Amino acid sequence: MKSVATAPAKIILFGEHFVVHGTKAILAAIDKRVTVTTTFTENKTIKINSELGTIEVPISFPLSIYQVESEFRPFIYLVNNMILAKQNVSGLEITIDSEIPIGVGLGSSSACCVAAAASISGLFKELSSEENLKMAIEAEKTNFPDTSGADCTVCTYGGIIEYDKINGIKKINNTSELYIMFVNSMIPHSTARTVEKVWEFKENNEERFSQLCALENELIGEVKLAMTNFSATAPQAKYANDDLNLIGQKMSENQQMLEEIGVSNRELQNIISILDEISYGSKITGAGDGGCIIALMNEGDDLRIGEEPQTPEGTDGYGPQLSILLRELVDRQAGWAKIDTKGVVWSKIEE
Ligand code: PMV
Repeated sequence: MKSVATAPAKIILFGEHFVVHGTKAILAAIDKRVTVTTTFTENKTIKINSELGTIEVPISFPLSIYQVESEFRPFIYLVNNMILAKQNVSGLEITIDSEIPIGVGLGSSSACCVAAAASISGLFKELSSEENLKMAIEAEKTNFPDTSGADCTVCTYGGIIEYDKINGIKKINNTSELYIMFVNSMIPHSTARTVEKVWEFKENNEERFSQLCALENELIGEVKLAMTNFSATAPQAKYANDDLNLIGQKMSENQQMLEEIGVSNRELQNIISILDEISYGSKITGAGDGGCIIALMNEGDDLRIGEEPQTPEGTDGYGPQLSILLRELVDRQAGWAKIDTKGVVWSKIEE
């Protein structure tokens, strides 16, 4: 029997970093997924296969998470917690297949934790979403004790959500009508390091940091109103231009705040200033210092970033000036981040 679970990547539309310190954030699950498959084996080992490599450790409980490299620790944690009480497990094989790029702010590690919790537990007992989420957050803490839990939450439930550490999740809406483009700066980053940098900023600028937290909450309140108006009045309708302008403007304001707390850099600012020319607004998504930039676009925009312009004047449909800007992004990975509404999905396959 195979227990298979998939979970989506995420983008943070508003509030990264500040959410670690108790403010609200708005996140969306997006249409890139990780799949975790777990099967019983007779090998008396736990074997984990992923694009980062393969490990195999003897199955004597309790397993120590420190016997493996950090990227495998969440899985060992989950195995320990899911099957410690179950006697007759002779071995397990866990395989991770992912279409989410690693370390670029799209939530690869959280999606892995959420899918792995569902996949491993699925061999024994199906967990409720709440139980699965709790397990996934604890697993993520083996690598990143300071996590706000926002990423695992949106990967679990899908859609667009508001989150804070005290109240947890509030669903905003499930529309797929926001057209978000992401551009990968190709600069690797460490979430733990940037979160530490923000703690340092907070310690050195206490008053300003608490002002910024208040501003972030206020900003999110305004954005939420624009988003909720839309879903309450006409779920199938398109966003009005005014709403898109407001959401884009708030993205840019949020970016200013991220710059102030020191998680941006020249390279990211350069990408943002290019995207600002062609979008409603753009910002870092996730920890920053590298990773991805997101931009709020119009339906039907087809920028083909990452391809060489097709004519000397520029990419079809764009004037020469814009094409020069787009050419600067040729070496980046870019794509659309379509909103995922499903969250974690689990199934059992009898063989
Ligand atoms: O870059 P990512 O996908 O690891 O996102 C981190 C988001 C933070 O707000 C910086 C941390 C957190 O736990 O919310």
